[in-house]
Amino acid sequence: MNKPRVLTGITTTGTPHLGNFVGAIRPAIEASKDSGVESFLFLADYHSLIKCQKPDLVMQSSKEVAAAWLSLGLDPSRTIFYRQSDIPEITELTWILTCCSAKGLMNRAHAYKAAVNVNEEAGEDVDFGITMGLFSYPILMAADILLFSGERIPVGKDQIQHVEMARDIAQRFNHNFSEILTIPEAVVGEEASVLLGLDGRKMSKSYNNIIPLFCSEKQLKKSINRIKTNLLEPGEPKNADDSAVFHLWCAFSDESEISNMRLRFEEGIGWGDAKKMLFEKVNDQLIEPRDKFQRLMDDGSYIETILKEGAVKAREESIELIGKVRKAVGIAALD
Ligand code: TRP
Repeated sequence: MNKPRVLTGITTTGTPHLGNFVGAIRPAIEASKDSGVESFLFLADYHSLIKCQKPDLVMQSSKEVAAAWLSLGLDPSRTIFYRQSDIPEITELTWILTCCSAKGLMNRAHAYKAAVNVNEEAGEDVDFGITMGLFSYPILMAADILLFSGERIPVGKDQIQHVEMARDIAQRFNHNFSEILTIPEAVVGEEASVLLGLDGRKMSKSYNNIIPLFCSEKQLKKSINRIKTNLLEPGEPKNADDSAVFHLWCAFSDESEISNMRLRFEEGIGWGDAKKMLFEKVNDQLIEPRDKFQRLMDDGSYIETILKEGAVKAREESIELIGKVRKAVGIAALD
Protein backbone atom coordinates (compact mmCIF):
# COMPACT_ATOMS: atom_id res chain seq x y z
CA MET A 1 0.00 0.00 0.00
CA ASN A 2 1.22 3.49 -0.75
CA LYS A 3 2.08 5.70 2.19
CA PRO A 4 0.04 8.90 2.52
CA ARG A 5 1.92 11.83 1.13
CA VAL A 6 2.38 14.86 3.36
CA LEU A 7 3.44 18.04 1.61
CA THR A 8 4.01 21.55 2.79
CA GLY A 9 5.71 24.73 1.66
CA ILE A 10 7.42 27.50 3.57
CA THR A 11 7.24 30.98 2.15
CA THR A 12 10.74 32.33 2.30
CA THR A 13 10.24 35.77 3.74
CA GLY A 14 12.18 36.98 6.73
CA THR A 15 14.36 35.28 9.28
CA PRO A 16 12.79 32.42 11.25
CA HIS A 17 11.88 33.22 14.88
CA LEU A 18 11.10 31.14 17.95
CA GLY A 19 7.39 31.16 17.08
CA ASN A 20 8.12 29.56 13.69
CA PHE A 21 10.24 26.98 15.44
CA VAL A 22 7.61 25.95 17.98
CA GLY A 23 4.59 26.34 15.69
CA ALA A 24 5.88 24.94 12.41
CA ILE A 25 9.47 23.77 12.19
CA ARG A 26 9.64 21.52 15.25
CA PRO A 27 6.32 19.72 14.64
CA ALA A 28 7.08 19.28 10.94
CA ILE A 29 10.49 17.80 11.66
CA GLU A 30 8.93 15.47 14.25
CA ALA A 31 6.25 14.45 11.76
CA SER A 32 8.84 13.80 9.06
CA LYS A 33 10.36 11.10 11.26
CA ASP A 34 7.15 9.08 10.95
CA SER A 35 8.04 6.27 8.61
CA GLY A 36 4.36 5.72 7.83
CA VAL A 37 4.21 8.78 5.57
CA GLU A 38 6.07 10.12 2.60
CA SER A 39 7.10 13.69 3.27
CA PHE A 40 7.72 16.59 0.89
CA LEU A 41 8.89 19.98 2.09
CA PHE A 42 9.86 22.90 -0.07
CA LEU A 43 10.98 26.51 0.00
CA ALA A 44 8.23 28.53 -1.64
CA ASP A 45 10.52 31.14 -3.13
CA TYR A 46 8.15 32.09 -5.95
CA HIS A 47 5.58 32.86 -3.27
CA SER A 48 8.03 35.19 -1.60
CA LEU A 49 8.05 37.43 -4.69
CA ILE A 50 4.44 38.31 -3.96
CA LYS A 51 5.45 40.04 -0.74
CA CYS A 52 9.03 41.04 -1.34
CA GLN A 53 10.67 42.51 -4.41
CA LYS A 54 14.10 43.16 -3.01
CA PRO A 55 16.37 40.61 -4.71
CA ASP A 56 18.97 40.53 -1.93
CA LEU A 57 16.32 39.91 0.70
CA VAL A 58 14.62 37.22 -1.38
CA MET A 59 17.90 35.37 -1.72
CA GLN A 60 18.95 35.87 1.90
CA SER A 61 15.60 34.57 3.15
CA SER A 62 15.79 31.41 1.07
CA LYS A 63 19.23 30.70 2.44
CA GLU A 64 18.25 31.43 6.04
CA VAL A 65 15.10 29.34 5.90
CA ALA A 66 16.93 26.38 4.35
CA ALA A 67 19.79 26.68 6.86
CA ALA A 68 17.31 26.90 9.74
CA TRP A 69 15.45 23.72 8.81
CA LEU A 70 18.63 21.77 8.17
CA SER A 71 20.33 22.91 11.35
CA LEU A 72 17.25 22.06 13.42
CA GLY A 73 17.32 18.48 12.28
CA LEU A 74 15.43 18.10 9.02
CA ASP A 75 16.81 14.95 7.45
CA PRO A 76 16.92 15.25 3.65
CA SER A 77 17.28 11.50 3.30
CA ARG A 78 13.78 11.07 4.79
CA THR A 79 12.10 14.16 3.44
CA ILE A 80 12.19 15.32 -0.13
CA PHE A 81 13.45 18.83 0.51
CA TYR A 82 13.55 21.14 -2.51
CA ARG A 83 13.17 24.67 -3.76
CA GLN A 84 10.05 25.57 -5.70
CA SER A 85 11.97 27.50 -8.35
CA ASP A 86 14.05 24.39 -9.15
CA ILE A 87 10.91 22.62 -10.36
CA PRO A 88 9.88 24.21 -13.68
CA GLU A 89 6.84 21.91 -13.83
CA ILE A 90 5.29 23.94 -10.99
CA THR A 91 5.05 27.07 -13.11
CA GLU A 92 3.91 25.03 -16.12
CA LEU A 93 1.11 23.51 -14.11
CA THR A 94 0.28 26.93 -12.67
CA TRP A 95 -0.54 28.23 -16.13
CA ILE A 96 -2.59 25.21 -17.13
CA LEU A 97 -4.57 25.50 -13.90
CA THR A 98 -4.89 29.26 -14.32
CA CYS A 99 -6.71 28.59 -17.58
CA CYS A 100 -9.25 26.37 -15.89
CA SER A 101 -9.77 28.24 -12.62
CA ALA A 102 -12.71 30.59 -12.22
CA LYS A 103 -11.82 34.22 -11.64
CA GLY A 104 -14.73 34.33 -9.23
CA LEU A 105 -13.00 31.75 -7.06
CA MET A 106 -9.92 33.98 -6.81
CA ASN A 107 -12.10 37.01 -5.99
CA ARG A 108 -13.03 35.22 -2.79
CA ALA A 109 -9.48 34.68 -1.49
CA HIS A 110 -9.04 36.26 1.96
CA ALA A 111 -5.64 37.79 1.23
CA TYR A 112 -6.91 39.47 -1.93
CA LYS A 113 -10.12 40.63 -0.27
CA ALA A 114 -8.15 42.10 2.62
CA ALA A 115 -6.01 44.10 0.20
CA VAL A 116 -9.16 45.40 -1.57
CA ASN A 117 -10.63 46.37 1.81
CA VAL A 118 -7.57 48.36 2.75
CA ASN A 119 -7.87 50.26 -0.54
CA GLU A 120 -11.57 50.92 -0.05
CA GLU A 121 -11.03 52.23 3.44
CA ALA A 122 -8.22 54.48 2.25
CA GLY A 123 -10.44 55.82 -0.55
CA GLU A 124 -8.03 54.45 -3.17
CA ASP A 125 -8.82 52.65 -6.39
CA VAL A 126 -9.76 49.08 -5.41
CA ASP A 127 -6.88 47.66 -7.46
CA PHE A 128 -4.25 49.98 -6.06
CA GLY A 129 -0.97 48.14 -5.43
CA ILE A 130 -2.48 44.72 -6.12
CA THR A 131 -0.42 42.56 -8.44
CA MET A 132 -1.62 39.60 -10.47
CA GLY A 133 0.76 37.60 -8.29
CA LEU A 134 -1.26 38.39 -5.18
CA PHE A 135 -4.50 37.76 -7.04
CA SER A 136 -3.59 34.37 -8.44
CA TYR A 137 -1.43 33.20 -5.53
CA PRO A 138 -3.88 30.38 -4.69
CA ILE A 139 -3.32 28.84 -8.13
CA LEU A 140 0.44 28.71 -7.64
CA MET A 141 -0.16 27.06 -4.30
CA ALA A 142 -2.60 24.60 -5.90
CA ALA A 143 0.07 23.68 -8.45
CA ASP A 144 2.60 23.11 -5.63
CA ILE A 145 0.25 20.63 -4.05
CA LEU A 146 -1.34 18.93 -7.04
CA LEU A 147 1.87 18.39 -8.98
CA PHE A 148 3.10 16.06 -6.25
CA SER A 149 -0.28 14.51 -5.46
CA GLY A 150 -0.03 15.86 -1.90
CA GLU A 151 -2.77 14.30 0.23
CA ARG A 152 -2.25 15.81 3.67
CA ILE A 153 -1.26 19.43 3.73
CA PRO A 154 -0.14 20.75 7.13
CA VAL A 155 -0.86 24.47 7.22
CA GLY A 156 -1.72 27.30 9.58
CA LYS A 157 -5.37 28.37 9.86
CA ASP A 158 -4.83 31.27 7.48
CA GLN A 159 -3.99 28.80 4.71
CA ILE A 160 -7.00 26.49 4.96
CA GLN A 161 -8.86 28.45 2.32
CA HIS A 162 -6.00 27.99 -0.13
CA VAL A 163 -6.06 24.22 0.30
CA GLU A 164 -9.84 24.30 -0.21
CA MET A 165 -9.24 26.19 -3.44
CA ALA A 166 -6.69 23.59 -4.53
CA ARG A 167 -9.41 20.98 -3.99
CA ASP A 168 -11.89 22.95 -6.09
CA ILE A 169 -9.38 23.46 -8.85
CA ALA A 170 -8.39 19.78 -8.88
CA GLN A 171 -12.00 18.63 -8.97
CA ARG A 172 -12.77 20.93 -11.85
CA PHE A 173 -9.71 19.75 -13.78
CA ASN A 174 -10.57 16.10 -13.19
CA HIS A 175 -14.13 16.69 -14.27
CA ASN A 176 -13.22 18.61 -17.42
CA PHE A 177 -10.28 16.52 -18.59
CA SER A 178 -9.38 13.32 -16.85
CA GLU A 179 -9.05 11.96 -13.31
CA ILE A 180 -5.38 12.79 -12.88
CA LEU A 181 -5.17 15.04 -9.84
CA THR A 182 -5.34 13.84 -6.23
CA ILE A 183 -7.70 15.80 -3.99
CA PRO A 184 -5.71 17.23 -1.06
CA GLU A 185 -6.81 17.85 2.50
CA ALA A 186 -5.64 20.53 4.94
CA VAL A 187 -4.22 19.37 8.28
CA VAL A 188 -4.28 22.18 10.81
CA GLY A 189 -1.79 22.28 13.68
CA GLU A 190 -2.89 22.39 17.31
CA GLU A 191 -3.66 25.70 18.96
CA ALA A 192 -1.18 24.68 21.66
CA SER A 193 1.66 25.19 19.25
CA VAL A 194 1.11 28.95 19.02
CA LEU A 195 3.91 30.71 20.86
CA LEU A 196 3.39 34.04 22.63
CA GLY A 197 5.69 36.94 21.88
CA LEU A 198 7.36 39.64 23.97
CA ASP A 199 4.09 41.51 24.51
CA GLY A 200 1.99 38.43 25.31
CA ARG A 201 0.24 38.37 21.92
CA LYS A 202 0.91 35.60 19.38
CA MET A 203 4.56 35.81 18.29
CA SER A 204 4.52 37.28 14.81
CA LYS A 205 6.71 39.45 12.65
CA SER A 206 3.76 41.75 12.02
CA TYR A 207 3.40 42.49 15.76
CA ASN A 208 7.09 43.19 16.10
CA ASN A 209 7.22 41.00 19.19
CA ILE A 210 9.46 38.17 18.06
CA ILE A 211 12.46 36.47 19.58
CA PRO A 212 14.90 35.55 16.80
CA LEU A 213 15.89 31.91 16.54
CA PHE A 214 19.52 32.27 15.59
CA CYS A 215 20.75 35.47 17.17
CA SER A 216 23.76 35.59 19.48
CA GLU A 217 23.46 34.41 23.08
CA LYS A 218 23.68 37.98 24.20
CA GLN A 219 20.80 39.06 21.97
CA LEU A 220 18.73 36.11 23.08
CA LYS A 221 19.23 37.09 26.70
CA LYS A 222 18.32 40.68 25.89
CA SER A 223 15.13 39.63 24.08
CA ILE A 224 14.04 37.39 26.93
CA ASN A 225 14.64 40.21 29.38
CA ARG A 226 12.26 42.35 27.33
CA ILE A 227 9.30 39.97 27.79
CA LYS A 228 6.48 41.94 29.36
CA THR A 229 5.71 41.06 32.99
CA ASN A 230 3.63 42.63 35.75
CA LEU A 231 4.98 44.62 38.69
CA LEU A 232 4.88 41.87 41.32
CA GLU A 233 8.00 41.76 43.46
CA PRO A 234 10.09 38.68 44.25
CA GLY A 235 8.35 36.72 47.00
CA GLU A 236 4.86 37.64 45.79
CA PRO A 237 2.97 34.66 44.28
CA LYS A 238 2.52 34.93 40.52
CA ASN A 239 -0.05 33.48 38.17
CA ALA A 240 1.84 31.21 35.79
CA ASP A 241 -1.03 30.89 33.33
CA ASP A 242 -1.16 34.53 32.34
CA SER A 243 2.60 34.91 32.01
CA ALA A 244 4.40 34.88 28.66
CA VAL A 245 7.56 33.82 30.52
CA PHE A 246 5.83 30.68 31.79
CA HIS A 247 4.20 30.09 28.41
CA LEU A 248 7.61 30.11 26.71
CA TRP A 249 9.03 27.89 29.44
CA CYS A 250 6.35 25.31 28.65
CA ALA A 251 7.24 25.26 24.97
CA PHE A 252 10.78 24.19 25.77
CA SER A 253 10.33 21.96 28.81
CA ASP A 254 9.09 18.51 29.75
CA GLU A 255 6.22 17.88 32.15
CA SER A 256 8.19 17.72 35.35
CA GLU A 257 10.07 20.93 34.51
CA ILE A 258 6.73 22.58 33.80
CA SER A 259 5.23 21.60 37.15
CA ASN A 260 8.39 22.69 38.94
CA MET A 261 8.23 26.10 37.34
CA ARG A 262 4.53 26.38 38.16
CA LEU A 263 5.44 25.76 41.78
CA ARG A 264 8.19 28.39 41.66
CA PHE A 265 5.62 30.90 40.36
CA GLU A 266 3.30 30.09 43.25
CA GLU A 267 6.21 30.54 45.63
CA GLY A 268 6.88 33.95 44.17
CA ILE A 269 9.99 33.51 42.01
CA GLY A 270 11.31 36.94 40.96
CA TRP A 271 10.90 37.91 37.29
CA GLY A 272 14.66 38.26 36.92
CA ASP A 273 15.25 34.70 38.10
CA ALA A 274 12.43 33.25 36.02
CA LYS A 275 13.82 34.96 32.92
CA LYS A 276 17.30 33.74 33.69
CA MET A 277 16.05 30.17 33.90
CA LEU A 278 14.08 30.62 30.69
CA PHE A 279 17.12 31.97 28.89
CA GLU A 280 19.22 29.02 29.98
CA LYS A 281 16.58 26.51 28.96
CA VAL A 282 16.06 27.99 25.49
CA ASN A 283 19.73 28.66 24.94
CA ASP A 284 20.70 25.09 25.83
CA GLN A 285 18.48 23.79 23.09
CA LEU A 286 19.77 26.28 20.56
CA ILE A 287 23.53 26.08 21.11
CA GLU A 288 24.10 23.23 18.70
CA PRO A 289 21.67 24.30 15.96
CA ARG A 290 22.99 27.87 16.20
CA ASP A 291 26.47 26.66 15.51
CA LYS A 292 25.35 24.51 12.63
CA PHE A 293 23.24 27.35 11.23
CA GLN A 294 26.26 29.62 11.23
CA ARG A 295 28.38 27.08 9.40
CA LEU A 296 25.68 26.56 6.78
CA MET A 297 25.30 30.30 6.31
CA ASP A 298 29.05 30.78 5.93
CA ASP A 299 29.19 28.37 3.03
CA GLY A 300 25.99 28.16 1.03
CA SER A 301 27.31 25.41 -1.26
CA TYR A 302 26.21 22.60 1.09
CA ILE A 303 22.63 23.89 1.16
CA GLU A 304 22.72 24.30 -2.59
CA THR A 305 23.81 20.66 -3.04
CA ILE A 306 21.06 19.39 -0.74
CA LEU A 307 18.42 21.41 -2.56
CA LYS A 308 19.62 20.29 -5.97
CA GLU A 309 19.51 16.65 -4.84
CA GLY A 310 16.01 17.23 -3.53
CA ALA A 311 14.98 18.73 -6.85
CA VAL A 312 16.24 15.67 -8.74
CA LYS A 313 14.07 13.40 -6.58
CA ALA A 314 11.09 15.75 -6.77
CA ARG A 315 11.30 16.03 -10.53
CA GLU A 316 11.02 12.28 -10.97
CA GLU A 317 7.47 12.80 -9.79
CA SER A 318 6.69 16.14 -11.34
CA ILE A 319 7.84 15.29 -14.84
CA GLU A 320 5.61 12.25 -14.89
CA LEU A 321 2.55 14.13 -13.69
CA ILE A 322 3.01 17.14 -15.93
CA GLY A 323 3.29 14.73 -18.88
CA LYS A 324 -0.16 13.36 -18.11
CA VAL A 325 -1.62 16.80 -17.56
CA ARG A 326 -0.22 18.20 -20.80
CA LYS A 327 -1.59 15.27 -22.71
CA ALA A 328 -4.97 15.61 -21.06
CA VAL A 329 -5.30 19.23 -22.16
CA GLY A 330 -4.00 18.58 -25.68
CA ILE A 331 -0.45 19.87 -25.41
CA ALA A 332 1.54 16.99 -26.84
CA ALA A 333 3.78 15.90 -29.70
CA LEU A 334 1.95 15.90 -33.01
CA ASP A 335 1.65 12.53 -34.62
N1 TRP B 1 1.30 29.88 1.26
C1 TRP B 1 1.86 29.12 2.33
C2 TRP B 1 2.14 30.07 3.53
O1 TRP B 1 2.31 31.24 3.34
C3 TRP B 1 3.16 28.46 1.93
C4 TRP B 1 2.90 27.51 0.81
C5 TRP B 1 3.16 27.68 -0.51
C6 TRP B 1 2.34 26.21 0.95
N2 TRP B 1 2.83 26.60 -1.21
C7 TRP B 1 2.30 25.66 -0.35
C8 TRP B 1 1.87 25.48 2.04
C9 TRP B 1 1.79 24.39 -0.59
C10 TRP B 1 1.35 24.20 1.81
C11 TRP B 1 1.31 23.67 0.49
O2 TRP B 1 2.22 29.59 4.64
